[in-house]
Amino acid sequence: MTYIVTSVALADIMQLRVAVLRKGTPVTDCNYPEDAYPDAVHFAIFHEGTAIATSSWFMKECPEKPGITAMQLKGMAVADELQGAGLGALLIDAGLALANERGAAIAWARARDSALGFYERLGFVSTGDGFIDGPTEMPHHIVVRTL
Ligand SMILES: CC(C)(COP(=O)(O)OP(=O)(O)OC[C@H]1O[C@@H](n2cnc3c(N)ncnc32)[C@H](O)[C@@H]1OP(=O)(O)O)[C@@H](O)C(=O)NCCC(=O)NCCS
Repeated sequence: MTYIVTSVALADIMQLRVAVLRKGTPVTDCNYPEDAYPDAVHFAIFHEGTAIATSSWFMKECPEKPGITAMQLKGMAVADELQGAGLGALLIDAGLALANERGAAIAWARARDSALGFYERLGFVSTGDGFIDGPTEMPHHIVVRTL
């Protein structure tokens, strides 16, 4: 199976975001203020017309690395039954290419601790103290990838 990463509209990925990232969480919607950023790019991988993997990317300073030109990724989600098949890594590749194009020196995310191994496998480094994310009430760390 060849999977292709494409840039899509927010509406095309919202159902997947909610299904994967708002499972059993106190907050049930998955809209981010950054979705309104004019430079936000929503990546998706589709299978038979349905989004099966997604992540969103936009320029935003990292609180752990002030003053550095940075791109943040958010809303990283792969459909439950397809996790572990390399789709997340494809999205990161696409996002890092975009970050390079846009002149970012780093890419970063607020990573769930349960996903830290994924980010570390792809060259991100956990930085700073852990924190509990508001909408999910899950433990998180900021992870940073130098470009
Ligand atoms: C985290 C997530 C996005 C990763 O995507 P994925 O498609 O499952 O990951 P991939 O198959 O591309 O994995 C790439 C590498 O990371 C590793 N990896 C993936 N998820 C991992 C995890 N949770 N912990 C440790 N390692 C992980 C894989 O084993 C693989 O390593 P390898 O190259 O040595 O085989 C996906 O599992 C997911 O949507 N999880 C639920 C929601 C979530 O936690 N999102 C992140 C919020 S910050």
